[in-house]
Amino acid sequence: MKHLLAIQELERNKLLTLLENAQGMVEISRREVKKVPALRGKTVINLFYEASTRTRTSFEIAGKWLSADVINITSGSSSASKGETLLDTALTLQAMAPDILVVRHGASGAPEFLSQHLKDCAVVNAGDGTHEHPTQALLDLLTLRQHLGAQGLEGLCVAIVGDIRHSRVARSNMWAHLLLGNEVRLVGPPTLVPLEFNQMAEELKNNRKLQTRYPGKLVIEHALSAGLREADVVIALRMQLERQEHFFVPSLEEYSRNYCVSSRSMQHAGKGAVVLSPGPANRGIEISGELLDSPRCLAANQVTNGIAVRMAVLYELASARAAEQHIVG
Ligand code: NCD
Repeated sequence: MKHLLAIQELERNKLLTLLENAQGMVEISRREVKKVPALRGKTVINLFYEASTRTRTSFEIAGKWLSADVINITSGSSSASKGETLLDTALTLQAMAPDILVVRHGASGAPEFLSQHLKDCAVVNAGDGTHEHPTQALLDLLTLRQHLGAQGLEGLCVAIVGDIRHSRVARSNMWAHLLLGNEVRLVGPPTLVPLEFNQMAEELKNNRKLQTRYPGKLVIEHALSAGLREADVVIALRMQLERQEHFFVPSLEEYSRNYCVSSRSMQHAGKGAVVLSPGPANRGIEISGELLDSPRCLAANQVTNGIAVRMAVLYELASARAAEQHIVG
């Protein structure tokens, strides 16, 4: 693995190995001295062009616990605010010889673009536009793995509810669960579940080659009760108003009346169903406050697991680079 740009690029075995390694990293996070020398002498730059609390902090902690030197740059504090292009900023950073560049950007494809132009530096996608957020899907899976057991990640019905249209978290989780052979239900009003997903569902049904790679099933549901019916996992997505240039719902009140995931609506789900929230959550809009605070919502575990997953990803990329340099050398 040279870069981590999308779940869509991962093979099933690689995804499972990353989860296994991440579970190993959890052990480090429980030690009194949370530090191992695995990335000593390596430099990780976090380049964030969009707001972030969880992702940026956990990439920073992950790098530090692995003993890397970690530098954080946000768009407001970088020369981007003086008009420098993304590529020029990245090339400038490359001249300082970082080993890994972690990028969050509002434009879908920005990390891939950088991976093509930067020599000798691994790129990690920390969320690009409405495309993917691979480490979020990995930490969601790690959280489920801990809850259900390593064998429990298969045969699941996963309902992803809300603003699918603008969500990179939805796309990364969708590909991951389809890869694992799970049923993925995309649930929301038609304006927030664009037709491309109906086409994708059809293609998955009819295209043998695609079915072999993605043995899961994709289902679109517009009613919350039908979408949650007997689901094992419910992912409540934030309404991403900052990405909406028009109104996709008549009003937030009406949206939450129909789509807010709450203990009441969870009665439609399977008996032991759990709830995930990528955060940040808007209480009372996509998820009720009481459900967010209840034990069936695993949001806090997700945040904790974010560090372990990012440690596993940084370690994997650094190891791949070391192996390559060894071969070249
Ligand atoms: C998500 C993101 O930025 O895509 N947040 C995160 O990384 N935890 C989801 C969101 O912003 O709603």
